[in-house]
Amino acid sequence: MTTVAGAATRLAVLGAGTVGSALLRRLSARSDVEVNGVLVRDANRARDLGSSSLNLVTDPARAVEGADVVVELLGGTGLALELMLESLAAGRKVITGNKAALAEHWDEFLPYLRQGQLYFEAAVMAGTPAVAPIASVLRGSEPLRLDAVLNGTCSFMIGRLADGLSFDEALAEAQELGYAEADPSLDVGGFDAAHKLAILGRLAFDPELSWTTVKAGVRGITGLTPESVAEAVRAGGSVTLLCSIEPVDGAWVPRVRPVQLPAGHELGGLGADRNGFVFNGRHSGKVFVSGPGAGGDSTASAVLGDLEQALAGRAGPAPLARAATVPSGEPAEVVEL
Ligand code: HSE
Repeated sequence: MTTVAGAATRLAVLGAGTVGSALLRRLSARSDVEVNGVLVRDANRARDLGSSSLNLVTDPARAVEGADVVVELLGGTGLALELMLESLAAGRKVITGNKAALAEHWDEFLPYLRQGQLYFEAAVMAGTPAVAPIASVLRGSEPLRLDAVLNGTCSFMIGRLADGLSFDEALAEAQELGYAEADPSLDVGGFDAAHKLAILGRLAFDPELSWTTVKAGVRGITGLTPESVAEAVRAGGSVTLLCSIEPVDGAWVPRVRPVQLPAGHELGGLGADRNGFVFNGRHSGKVFVSGPGAGGDSTASAVLGDLEQALAGRAGPAPLARAATVPSGEPAEVVEL
């Protein structure tokens, strides 16, 4: 990043949806950062961006031109992926919340991850720290297993199924609240959670964890009904879409599936808009982190945290050098639904 001493850092923001708009409103008060270009689909659409003088453009090249740091908030594995890789190859720092691109194209990002050019706290659990602790302090602890709730849409829908709503009614409400992905089959099919699990798994368990392997262990919530959820709740546990990395026969095995958690489990009853993880390490013991896992303001906070790292000249999370030793397995204390 070449900046003139004392000059504002030039930012390109790709996408001005829920997260991009929240970010731009927060940036409007800052003088140390200059937003050069904002990539949008329709420059004439009314938006609350905190400033009327932003350069809204529909041409990706114009948005990125002259930027020191590119913030990618378009999502998906098409244009967003292409623009991130181009920007990284041109030596720019990239901050992203794009879990799908990272999960499915990790190898293409690896050279830039090694150089610390990529920052992605916003990709997992929004503004609640997940990437940073998993990629730093928890690496020192010899992992035993990871269990996590990583999709707000599924948590919300399971709560509404327990209230007696049909699957379609529960999904419609989740979409209305802005929890769901543009393609909600990513949420209910378990793939959005799996994207986030792939990222966490590679950062502290196995750097070679492939998307094919992660995808093979995914079962979403489409088989749940109001009756099956109510029955599990009556039996005394809470129902959730649980993501795990567990030791099985000498390998780290990723899994995403709906389960009934035992009463008192840290991840039971998190609530609709919260995510959480329990990292169990030989030396750290159980570390439980929870907080908001979606939404514009929370996710924009993670982006701003990453921006502080980039502005201070600190590198983004480094990839894990080698797989953590796999312990002999302990079965999960859960009932699969
Ligand atoms: N669709 C996602 C969820 C948004 O429901 O958790 C946050 O990544």
